[in-house]
Amino acid sequence: MSKPVSLSIENGIAVITIDSPPVNAISAAIRRGLLTTTEQLAKDANVKAVVLICAGRTFMAGADISEFGGTMAPPELRNVLTDFESLPQPIVVALHGTALGGGVEVALAGHYRIADKGAKLGFPEVTLGIVPGAVGTQRLPRLIGAENALKMFFDGRPVGAEEAKALGLVDEIAEGDLRAAAIAYAQRLVKEGKGPRRVRDNKVEPLTEAQIAAFRAQAAKQHKGMITPELDIAAVRASWELPFAQGLAVERAISDGSLQTPESRAMRHLFFAEREVADVPGITAADKPREVKSAGIIGSGTMGGGIAMAFANAGIAVTLIDIDQAALDRGLATVRKNYDVSVKRGKMTPADVDQRMTLIKASTSYDALKDVDLVIEAVFEEMTLKKKIFTELDRVCKPGAILATNTSTLDINEIAKATKRPQDVIGLHFFSPANVMRLLEIVRSDATGNDVIASAFALAKKIRKIGVLSKVCFGFIGNRMMDPYAREAQRLVLEGATPAQVDSALENFGMAMGILAVFDMAGVDVGVKVRKANPQQGSSDPSFYRADAVLFGQNWIGQKTGKGYYRYEQGSRERHPHPEAQALLAEEAKKLGIAQRTDITEQEIVERCIYSMINEGAKILEEGVALRPGDIDVVYTSGYGFPRRRGGPMFFADEIGLSTVLAGIEKYGKRLHAEDWQPAPLLKKLAAENGTFAAWHAARSKKG
Ligand code: 3HC
Ligand code: NAI
Repeated sequence: MSKPVSLSIENGIAVITIDSPPVNAISAAIRRGLLTTTEQLAKDANVKAVVLICAGRTFMAGADISEFGGTMAPPELRNVLTDFESLPQPIVVALHGTALGGGVEVALAGHYRIADKGAKLGFPEVTLGIVPGAVGTQRLPRLIGAENALKMFFDGRPVGAEEAKALGLVDEIAEGDLRAAAIAYAQRLVKEGKGPRRVRDNKVEPLTEAQIAAFRAQAAKQHKGMITPELDIAAVRASWELPFAQGLAVERAISDGSLQTPESRAMRHLFFAEREVADVPGITAADKPREVKSAGIIGSGTMGGGIAMAFANAGIAVTLIDIDQAALDRGLATVRKNYDVSVKRGKMTPADVDQRMTLIKASTSYDALKDVDLVIEAVFEEMTLKKKIFTELDRVCKPGAILATNTSTLDINEIAKATKRPQDVIGLHFFSPANVMRLLEIVRSDATGNDVIASAFALAKKIRKIGVLSKVCFGFIGNRMMDPYAREAQRLVLEGATPAQVDSALENFGMAMGILAVFDMAGVDVGVKVRKANPQQGSSDPSFYRADAVLFGQNWIGQKTGKGYYRYEQGSRERHPHPEAQALLAEEAKKLGIAQRTDITEQEIVERCIYSMINEGAKILEEGVALRPGDIDVVYTSGYGFPRRRGGPMFFADEIGLSTVLAGIEKYGKRLHAEDWQPAPLLKKLAAENGTFAAWHAARSKKG
């Protein structure tokens, strides 16, 4: 293996190359190498200029996140960069790929910056719940101004080379060979007698309190409940209030402190969990993914249309099938309407839309699917219909085509049996709106082939989704855990909590939307129909999902009818109280013998909803429906609006302690329907051992 930091000197130009695949994350070895090289160059009078460049697919993608949380080996990057910036020769930093976080901080310690035209530069730290810690909060405002700097820290989104140049973050853009361009730039600097140009010597224009207030307002929306943005403001404030060296000390305290916050632990956990999901025991490189260049989608309704958009957005041709032309026309019109909204919002050009629409063909004949690589069935949720369709697919599709169903509740083992190729059948469970939501549950049947599972993960990546594997069970991972969570929300309104009280407690906890508002949005009828079709999945508690049934009985099914848990004005999604519904729910409670209470606290609402969800998660883990606790966390944060700053339900449970969760479950079990509050055996066992889901999983993986 090549050295992570190497040096070559030619004609007075020193080239430092960082080479640490895959993404040149700034490990201790790189820090040590850069420090030694800097010390060597500081003494070398023959070197007239320095170029720093990275090998491989990208410039440094930031600090090595796997080092966070423990004691970091010396030297510290911030100190290495002080010496690097102090070099007597002009330094040109050459950027390509994705220069992120600590990577950009290295570039800021250089004196001149040249970027490949495809390069992207950004500070994703906020997505990890941390504050930049290699002096970015002091150098970036000195280079591009405090306002632009805070904007970059808050957005977490990288900017392209052109935008970086407009901001003053890079000086030049290289069209061709980056190394050659950077060396030529260095030679020109030498020729023109240009020496070091240190960012630390610049002054920062202070932000006004009004500008800071605007940033706070932005953070309240964009990073709800997080403390990191406030820490960013405090660090950047030091850039104008204090001399550089003191500002550096302030940043050190703030950034090091940010690494210890629960939100940073949670968000770093998700970073790795999201990368681990595709690692499926038993599936190896030999299980080569089948290529998916074209797809058929059966059913052009809510889901079929959205799935078609997801494919077209990724440049994959799709053929939509529906029962008649009128249904197809409706489906295509909805797709077009959704794209038009993106154009109106400036997210797409009309030309983008045309290009995508040409990728979506429509047909009423299954024969149009004979050459496609993958079919996704998204028709009504009826077993007989789905089985009929899979028999038909077995007849028309070419050998090796992947046959997928988007079913939310049906048994995929049974669907697979309708074909003579069950190994090719899989569940691809999208979430509505399918063109937007990141989550894709990949559901393996007992017979699904390993290469088909590998293909599903590869496909997820291609259509920019995050795939999580589940085994077949009612509701898979996500909806199965949603069941007890929503059960408690519904039961709480029967006990006298208002829907607004329930939803705001959940939203204050951090859920993107309270569950009762979600029901109103998706349609109360949807859940009621699922219950009716699956009576065996219920509970012996007569109050189980009664609130939904009561509303459904009045056709108060949510936004569609203007009334549900809330009342809605025509054309508006704003929630208003719906006293008639509350009165009816109170009557129902009386019939069920449930006493209404006025002492329901926010804490009780959160505990009942979230703990019961965690308990189901423990069962899912024990049964092997989900591979790891982290997989459940990814499902919940990318598909169900669970707050990233809490890391997902299983991580959250580990953080607050499993004995706390168990004590809550036992407490509510005594008061409520005991059968629904049976603690999961795994939860009981781990709580008794003072263990965590994470440690349990780690020990289990070690044993293999
Ligand atoms: N630290 C450690 N490992 C990292 C890493 C990092 N900063 N960035 C990526 N990796 C690892 C991934 O875990 C993955 O490992 P695996 O192959 O074993 O699963 C491998 O590198 C490849 O990563 P991806 O699968 O994500 O590759 P992509 O090509 O899809 O994406 C990327 C590349 C855009 C660089 C993406 O990996 C990314 O966004 N990385 C995170 C960057 C980041 O957050 N940097 C800021 C760090 S914090 C910081 O710098 C603090 C500073 O102020 C000191
Ligand atoms: P939908 O009712 O909006 O659309 C179903 C479409 O299938 C209609 O256009 C209908 O004409 C068509 N169709 C019916 N029979 C057909 C046949 N024999 N051949 C071809 N087309 C036929 O339904 P929706 O909401 O899109 O759901 C579809 C599937 O996706 C269901 O299995 C559902 O459980 C699942 N799902 C739904 C989610 C949602 O939020 N709506 C989320 C995830 C999964």
